[in-house]
Amino acid sequence: MIRRAEVTDHPWIVATGAEAYHDLGDYTRILPSWLEQPGVLAWIDADMHGRGRGFAMLGFYMEDPTQSGKPATQVVADLLALAVLPAQQGRGIGGKLLAHVIEVAERVAPSSQIPALRLTVAETNTSAQRLYARTGFRIVDGSATYDRGQRALRMARPLGK
Ligand SMILES: CC(C)(COP(=O)(O)OP(=O)(O)OC[C@H]1O[C@@H](n2cnc3c(N)ncnc32)[C@H](O)[C@@H]1OP(=O)(O)O)[C@@H](O)C(=O)NCCC(=O)NCCS
Repeated sequence: MIRRAEVTDHPWIVATGAEAYHDLGDYTRILPSWLEQPGVLAWIDADMHGRGRGFAMLGFYMEDPTQSGKPATQVVADLLALAVLPAQQGRGIGGKLLAHVIEVAERVAPSSQIPALRLTVAETNTSAQRLYARTGFRIVDGSATYDRGQRALRMARPLGK
């Protein structure tokens, strides 16, 4: 079952995310700072006893036009984090959480004119890239970048198409 995360879930999210992203760097500071931001929503997939199995975090931001090269401020949607406990992976939980995030982004996109849902994924994380490709994300050309010291790719999925 997927439900909105509450403040009392934040320590679990941070601990789970820090564990899931262990290979990618130290997320113990960045995850709490994302959760504090007003445009960030998080969801938890819980089992029948209410125990969390995974979470997803979606951020809506106003993009500064001086940085985007666009003439006006634009709202952008970023999938900030998606993580499933190692023992629960490969059972469709990540896919379900991702489908939920896409559904919310699709719902909000028309009124806020959000063109796409974006994310950054480590270049070596091919299983996550497969999941994203299956759900309509494509690698943004020329997007190879460094995220917290890791080679990473930017992916985007058009919204409202
Ligand atoms: C990436 C991640 C979120 C995926 O979560 P998940 O719950 O394992 O995802 P799913 O189960 O939906 O899909 C994973 C695989 O299991 C398969 N699968 C899904 N349900 C299945 C089932 N019932 N039986 C067998 N296989 C199944 C999927 O087809 C998929 O196969 P693929 O690897 O060949 O593409 C998870 O591996 C994770 O937390 N990784 C560490 C953190 C991370 O890398 N996050 C993304 C960073 S951007």
